Amino acid sequence: MEQLDRVVARTEPGYSYARYDNPTNAALEELMTVLERGHGALACASGMAAVEMAVATALADRRKSVVAADALYGATISLLMKVLEPAGVAVRFADVCDLDALRAAVAEAKPGCILVETISNPLLRVPEIDKIAEIARQAGAALVVDNTFGTPLLVRPSSWAPTSPFTASPSTWPATATCWVASWSPTSGTSSPCAPSPASSVRCWGRLKAT
Ligand SMILES: Cc1ncc(COP(=O)(O)O)c(C=O)c1O
Repeated sequence: MEQLDRVVARTEPGYSYARYDNPTNAALEELMTVLERGHGALACASGMAAVEMAVATALADRRKSVVAADALYGATISLLMKVLEPAGVAVRFADVCDLDALRAAVAEAKPGCILVETISNPLLRVPEIDKIAEIARQAGAALVVDNTFGTPLLVRPSSWAPTSPFTASPSTWPATATCWVASWSPTSGTSSPCAPSPASSVRCWGRLKAT
């Protein structure tokens, strides 16, 4: 029991309860963190759970407003319109391949989060993530990039957003194991002039791990 107490208190490594940590998820999360060069990864039961968790975490201490790509996976549109909007989150769609249109939408909506897909499903639109990351940084918004079609093997959104305070890359890769990767650690090169301290990473990460 004493050892369990230490594991639960995280003063000793180990596993206590499957939802907090388990060896199978831990192996996957470690691999995804390395691939993404991120601060950490959380395995979720589905891609949609990963997307929702990323957006909810992004909005926790930001304006409850999302500017989302107008070409998105259908279930993500449903999440925005049928879950988040009724819960009080303002949702606005913009053509994220048209940077001027995106800038105008961001200026008007002042979002806490910009949500895009690296390669959109099903329309295969490919926005310029580095430029969008800069728009997000200037607006103080988190950037959530659904990297399902890109996969962290080929595409690392966090490397295009080196100054972003919060870049999360939900991904449904590999097909048999859905997970999401969040990268906002200064140690991974994804720090921000606005939130450069490790404390910010630790705070975000703590919030995620707390659930
Ligand atoms: C771009 C994108 N995001 C999210 C999802 C949702 O993944 P899941 O079906 O594991 O919830 C999919 C599924 O195809 C997808 O293509």
